[in-house]
Amino acid sequence: MKFDIVTIFPRMIEASLEDGVVARARASGRLDVRAWDLREFTTDRHKVVDDSPFGGGPGMVLKPEPLVRAVEHIGEARGRPGAVILPTPQGRRFCHDEAVRLSRLSHVVVLCGRYEGIDDRVRAHVATDEISIGDYVLSGGELAALVILDAVARFVPGVVGDDASVEGDSFVRGLLDHPHYTRPAEFRGWCVPEVLLSGHHGAVETWRRREALRVTFERRPDLIDRAVLDAEQRRWLEELIAEREKAGKGVEHDRD
Ligand code: ADE
Repeated sequence: MKFDIVTIFPRMIEASLEDGVVARARASGRLDVRAWDLREFTTDRHKVVDDSPFGGGPGMVLKPEPLVRAVEHIGEARGRPGAVILPTPQGRRFCHDEAVRLSRLSHVVVLCGRYEGIDDRVRAHVATDEISIGDYVLSGGELAALVILDAVARFVPGVVGDDASVEGDSFVRGLLDHPHYTRPAEFRGWCVPEVLLSGHHGAVETWRRREALRVTFERRPDLIDRAVLDAEQRRWLEELIAEREKAGKGVEHDRD
């Protein structure tokens, strides 16, 4: 999969490509990620990428020409992308399904904004998707681009060594992940749940499914409303609701 990120801070992108899952995926050829310096697509001596907003007001706006030239150049050099993404707080909220959808495209371009934003003609005529990674404002699209890259890369076949590990990820089945433990079985008197030491795979699997449901019920009840539960999970859910009512509590939070 090709992933092209256009930015005025290419080193910010390159530094984060040096380690971890994305670095390995690049080395193995499964991911072809490139950071493009927006200034290389300017035509003036000073490589100006921004200008003051029409109508006045604070800050600077990224000019349309270098961004459009960058997209055109990438299209010629690397083929037509399946999506041109604008990371922006005004975008659709990024989520698991969106990461899976993008991972099925063979080529994605991300245009990182800075300053007050990007000239809106780029959004209107060039971008195919506007994506927000959360309801807060970052100082630029670079961190959002890296978040999107990481989440998408995990669904590119072969990128995560053990495919079962992606299948078990939070959100794959609409629920949060169950807790994980490793050795030692007891540490400072804090014990690992007995069932995990039993060697009984069926019981472990049942425990994990029930714990995934419990964690989601307690921390993200909104996800329960949308999850597709089987008969056993619906029964567990009724038990959890009954337990909560018996304890006379609302939704609990871990560190409250
Ligand atoms: N750029 C600035 N803030 C952002 C956000 N929350 N999501 C995506 N891109 C952004």
